[in-house]
Amino acid sequence: MIRTVAMLVCSAVAASAAEPVLIPRPTSVREQPGTLVLAADSLVLAPPELIDSAVATLSAAAACTLKPAPAGSPGRIQFLAANARPEAFPIPQGEGYVMRITPDGVNIHAATPAGHFYGLQSLAQALTTANPPRTLACADIVDAPRFGWRGFMLDESRHFTGITEVKRLLDAMASYKLNRLHWHLTDSPGWRIEIKKFPRLTEIGSRGSETDRRKDAPPQFYTQDQIRELVAYAKARHITLIPEIEMPGHADAAGLSYPEHSGGGFIADASAGKWPNFTFNPAKPETLAFLDDILTEIAGLFPDAGVIHFGGDEVNFGWQHWTDLPDVKSLMQRENLKDLNGIETWFNRRMAASINKLGFTTGGWDEVTARGLPRDKTLVFWWRHDHPQVLRRALDDGYQVVLCPQRPCYLDFVQHDSHLNGRRANGFNPLADVYGFPDSLKELRPGDAPQVLGIQANLWTETTVTQQRRDFLTWPRLVALAEAAWTPASRKDYAAFETHLKVHLPLLRARGLAPWDPFAASLEVVK
Ligand code: ACM
Repeated sequence: MIRTVAMLVCSAVAASAAEPVLIPRPTSVREQPGTLVLAADSLVLAPPELIDSAVATLSAAAACTLKPAPAGSPGRIQFLAANARPEAFPIPQGEGYVMRITPDGVNIHAATPAGHFYGLQSLAQALTTANPPRTLACADIVDAPRFGWRGFMLDESRHFTGITEVKRLLDAMASYKLNRLHWHLTDSPGWRIEIKKFPRLTEIGSRGSETDRRKDAPPQFYTQDQIRELVAYAKARHITLIPEIEMPGHADAAGLSYPEHSGGGFIADASAGKWPNFTFNPAKPETLAFLDDILTEIAGLFPDAGVIHFGGDEVNFGWQHWTDLPDVKSLMQRENLKDLNGIETWFNRRMAASINKLGFTTGGWDEVTARGLPRDKTLVFWWRHDHPQVLRRALDDGYQVVLCPQRPCYLDFVQHDSHLNGRRANGFNPLADVYGFPDSLKELRPGDAPQVLGIQANLWTETTVTQQRRDFLTWPRLVALAEAAWTPASRKDYAAFETHLKVHLPLLRARGLAPWDPFAASLEVVK
C-alpha cells in the first residue's frame, strides 16, 4: 500500500536519483558511481534483536519478500558493527550510522542498536521512494542526530486518543527518527491512566472530555496492561514514553474523583465554576501520600523513562483558596512560608524529591525554574515563547532544557492564515517556522548547547474532537520538527524539505494518517 502510493508520486515528482528522498535529511550524502538493483529475494544480515523487524520493514518498503541470511552467510543488506566500516569513514557513535550503497549491496554500520535502527529507517525510506522499484543510486551516507531529545507531546486529557492511534503515531514517529513521546496523561478534563490503588481516578475521572463534560460519559483511559503494551511497542521503535502526571494544578479530574485531596480552583474568577478542583491540596499529608503512591505506580509502569514530568504550570490559575485550608495554614507556620509562591515552591520541592527518590529526573514546565529544584535532577520544558527571560534563567541556573515554545512548537496553533479554528498569539505556526526552529531562536548562545537536550512539538487537544483533526494539526508539521531535531543546521534547506515532503505526504496517507496538504491548500479540518 505504501509502495503503490509512493510510486505514483515518484513518477509525478521525479524524485532525484542522486540523493534518496530521506526525511530527516542526513548529515552527509556523497554520491558514488553506479546503481544497486536489489533482487526481490535478497538476504538480510542483522543482529538477532533486529533481524525480524529489518526483514519485515525492508520487505514492505521494497514490496518484495526479503529473507534473513543463514548463519555464516553474507547478506545483500548487512547491519554491521561500527568498527567494521572501511577506513575512509568516521566511526559512528550513539544513534548515528554510516550507510554505504554500492552495486553489490548495502552495508549499515552503527555502534548501537539505535544507530542500526535509524539506518534501517533511512534504507526503508530510500526503498519506499525508489524509482524504479528496488533501484538505488550508490551513495555513502554518514548520519547522526543534532539533538538527543526529539520529541512530541500528546495531550490525552482534553480528548483521548487510544491505543490504535498511538501505535500509528509511534510508527510514524520512528520512521522520522523522533525518540520521545511526552504523554500528557492527566489534566482537568480527564484522568487517562489506571492507578490500581485509586480506582476512582478512572471510574470517575476518566469520564468526559473538553467537549463532553457529562458525568455519565463513557470512561476513556489506558489500563496498566495497555500502558505496558505501548511502552514495549515504543521501546521496540527506540522511542521513550515520558509520563506526565500534572500537579499541583490542572488536577480537576483527580479532585472530582477524590474530593478530599482537592485544594480548590477557579470558583471566584472569570472562569467561575469551570474547574472547582483545579489544584491538589499542597499541604495535606494524606494528599502528599496519595500523590507519592500514584508516582510509585507510574515509576513501575515506565521503568526506562528516565523522566517523570509533574507539570507545575499555571498553578496561579487556581491557588486562590489555598490559604483557607487548615493544612496549608499549619504548613505556612511550620515552614515559615510567606505567601502562595512559597507554598508552591515547598510543594514542588516535596514532590520532586519523591520523583528523584524513585530514581527519575523531574520534568516540569518552565514555571519550575523559579522553584529551586535540584539542577542535576530536573529537566525544564520551556514553553512560554513570550518569556524568553525564563529560558535564559533556566540556562544560566544550570538546568537542562527541552525547547518547546508556543511559537512555533505548539501544534494546536493554526498553520495557515486562512484557518479559522485554533490558537494564535501575535501570529501562528506555519510549517516553515517549525522547520526553522531552533535556529530562529535569538536567546541561545553557543555555550548553551550542552544544556539544550533537544526540541519538541506539543499537541494540546482542546479543539481536537476527532482523530482527523489531531492528524491535521500534527502532520506534516511534525515531519518538519523531526528534520529540525535531527539534521544539522548547516544541512537544513527548506526548499529541499518541501520537495521531499511532496513525496512523503502520500506516505503519511498510506500509513492511515490524514495530514494537511500545504501544497494543495487542502480544507481545514475544524473539529
Ligand atoms: C502549557 O501550555 N500550559 C504548558
